[in-house]
Amino acid sequence: MKEKLQQIKTEVTDLLAKTNDLEGLEQLRIRFLGKKGELTAVLKGMGQLSAEERPVIGALANEVRSYLEQEIDSRKEELSAKMQEEKLKKEVIDVTMPGKKQELGKLHPLTQVLDEIKNIFVGLGFQIAEGPEVEYDYYNFEALNIPKNHPARDTQDTFYIEDNIVLRTQTSPMQVRVMEKQKPPIRILAPGRVYRSDAVDATHSPVFHQVEGLVVDKGVTMADLKGTLEAFIKELYGADAKVRFRPHHFPFTEPSAEMDVSCFVCGGEGCRVCKGEGWIEILGCGMVHPKVLANCGIDPEEYSGFAFGLGLERVVMRRYGIDDLRLFFENDLRFLGQF
Ligand code: FA5
Ligand code: MG
Repeated sequence: MKEKLQQIKTEVTDLLAKTNDLEGLEQLRIRFLGKKGELTAVLKGMGQLSAEERPVIGALANEVRSYLEQEIDSRKEELSAKMQEEKLKKEVIDVTMPGKKQELGKLHPLTQVLDEIKNIFVGLGFQIAEGPEVEYDYYNFEALNIPKNHPARDTQDTFYIEDNIVLRTQTSPMQVRVMEKQKPPIRILAPGRVYRSDAVDATHSPVFHQVEGLVVDKGVTMADLKGTLEAFIKELYGADAKVRFRPHHFPFTEPSAEMDVSCFVCGGEGCRVCKGEGWIEILGCGMVHPKVLANCGIDPEEYSGFAFGLGLERVVMRRYGIDDLRLFFENDLRFLGQF
């Protein structure tokens, strides 16, 4: 028994030197000092010893046990310290390293200029209104004096969702939505996305943005329309901006006009972007048709109004001298980063 105890002592000393982690150490403790451990087994066998042997072996066994406990404990401390040190080494932060730079995002040029436009019109007393892109035929066409089979429908190639539901081809339905709810005086600006099955080129996209303006009050005239648009153009493009006002036709305004800016790519000489015209159309406008007012429950004898719808992409092209509208939708960071 004495030998067995000595053997346990040397074995543990050996194993301790080879144990390099806390888990292994715990297993070692269980193997020798646990309830079913080797030393415990020796102690259990003590009952069979003679009365003389018992105290001698007992003392030795106690000595071995406290030796093992001490050794295991001190090894445990050693290992914990070592692991802590390694952990600290791994987690060390080099405060002299240069930081990772966060790229700062920017607003899209369309958003930037739309914000400018909104600010200008809010300064003129307009409120901002918003409405659905998926729109009833009634608001997009009927209420705007464009009945079914009207030739004006052909000029706005329409994406149909259902028979009576379309992707709005213009922001003009917002005129009707606002006038149905609100009584004059009305001054609103309604920006938003619109859809047309147009062929893509430098100034056309099947998805683009319009900004609708509507003013209804007593005694509003064509002079108010021209004055408002001129004030807007000067504010956005500067006092010497060259624009022209050209008679046109829309079923929902009478009289109607369109406004062009002189081509900012060729300066008016004619090029690919203006298709040789020297001018680029940016908006349609006119005096709200009496029928449209009546459709919305506003008495055309008492009130009059003007409306306009500008093409945001083209306005932004002119603002920054961009020669192709497709750049707005390609999301090339080399392009977007310039604004
Ligand atoms: C209209 O959409 C009328 N609703 C404008 C209006 C409003 C008239 C209120 C009277 C009263 P038009 O189809 O011309 O009009 O379009 C208006 C502007 O949208 C154009 O001047 C142009 O700048 C822009 N636009 C039209 N089609 C496209 C397209 N496919 N891609 C980019 N811009 C476009
Ligand atoms: Mg037009």
